[in-house]
Amino acid sequence: MDKNTQIDIPQQHTTLFKTIGKAADELDQSAYVVGGYVRDVYLGRLDTDDTTDIDFVTIGSGIQLAKSVAKKLGSKDVTVFKKFGTAQVKHNGLDLEFVGARKESYRRDSRKPIVENGTLKDDQLRRDLTINALSWSLNEETFGLLQDPFHGVQDLKNKIIRTPIDPEKTFEDDPLRMMRAVRFAAQLKFTIEDETFSAIQKMAHRLSIISKERIIEELNKIVLTHKPSYGFELLLKSGLLEQFFPEMVKLQGVDVKNGQRHKDNFWHTLKVLDNVAAVSDNLWLRWAAIMHDIAKPPTKRFSKSAGWTFHGHDALGAKWTPKIFRRLGLPLDDRMKYVQKLVRLHLRPIALVSDEVSDSAVRRLIYEAGDDIEDLMTLCRADITSKNEWRVQKYRNNFDRVEKKIKTVEKKDKIRNWTNPISGEDIMEVFDVKPGPIVGKVKDKIKNAIFDGEIPNDRDEAYQYLLKLKEDVGEKE
Ligand code: CTP
Repeated sequence: MDKNTQIDIPQQHTTLFKTIGKAADELDQSAYVVGGYVRDVYLGRLDTDDTTDIDFVTIGSGIQLAKSVAKKLGSKDVTVFKKFGTAQVKHNGLDLEFVGARKESYRRDSRKPIVENGTLKDDQLRRDLTINALSWSLNEETFGLLQDPFHGVQDLKNKIIRTPIDPEKTFEDDPLRMMRAVRFAAQLKFTIEDETFSAIQKMAHRLSIISKERIIEELNKIVLTHKPSYGFELLLKSGLLEQFFPEMVKLQGVDVKNGQRHKDNFWHTLKVLDNVAAVSDNLWLRWAAIMHDIAKPPTKRFSKSAGWTFHGHDALGAKWTPKIFRRLGLPLDDRMKYVQKLVRLHLRPIALVSDEVSDSAVRRLIYEAGDDIEDLMTLCRADITSKNEWRVQKYRNNFDRVEKKIKTVEKKDKIRNWTNPISGEDIMEVFDVKPGPIVGKVKDKIKNAIFDGEIPNDRDEAYQYLLKLKEDVGEKE
């Protein structure tokens, strides 16, 4: 073995691994720790305090080994999945997963694998990527010995994503692996090796048999990477993005008319996403960046006087948000509503730049954005992607002014999380009416009067205003 590949097994788990090796010795079976755990140790990114799952492979019965390990560890928590020949032992907050090495092939006419007992190499070659096919031996005699028939350690060093065997076979066995290949490339900043990438391009359509839940799990991991544009570029170029998010692919392209061109909204969106990612780990703020211009293609117009416009893309994008979230398997609760709100409001702050803008417009924005006003401002700042430094500076200064305005108005009027000081009951009593549309109309009048600065945000003043409204109606009658 290459001396450079010799790595120490993390101390926190050495005793545990030795116990597993001993149990395997007693059963006369070989046992190995495999997969993500080994990969992450080589990458230097394994956080032993954060580790929850560790995978083990044995040549023989995984269930037998699990039972014997549980006995040695004094753990009563063993779950056996007989159908799959696997077993799980819970120990000190860890899920230890045991499986017998398998030779697995898939029949084209059925998704059910034919499972036969196999060697360690059989098990490794049916894994998704070379970097995920590393194992360490746990038996006493060979404790810590690396088994790396597909040169995963070399690929880790060269920062390469590649399948252990013919990529088409690997992806045919489980098409989600194409998403995983992109996800690992994005997380690790690795390059997908040519043959593997070509196979993804060829087989991207096979993603259609994968559930949206599995796809979105991988996609969200890409969204949460340090620089998400890297993963999205791979998703676009591989043809995977088209399979589940065609609206985003349609953002691509530049039209030129009368010598005027608009920016490519796909690359702009990715820049906005990277800008948000640089300042926030909030997955949903990142989704707001992805969605903010999503409805630009159908709202695109050209006129000689105005050039390229995308009027209404904010409202249409907000309208599309639940539909797209449902299809992607994203939540439809407050998280969707938050994204929808930011998409709907993303043009509003910049409209407040002019000195002539009334406090009323500022109050309305604070009211509509509520506690998400700071996130909205983060998104809007991220939306500045001009290459012209002078312009960028100008826009940033404008935002500083808008932010100042918002702070001043907010301090003065306390509009955030505003509730109408006049209740429906007040209105019904004063107007002597039963519940009906009139109550809503009067409530709106009071809200507008407060936001427009006609009356202060105060119950007594608002009540006087209500009485006056009643009087005016009386006079008209
Ligand atoms: N695996 C695979 N094909 C899949 C999923 C997983 O071959 N579609 C294999 C890989 O060898 C992987 C192991 O199963 O290392 C465990 O998978 P999982 O726990 O999903 O991922 P990890 O590699 O542990 O990485 P992460 O925790 O980042 O998801």
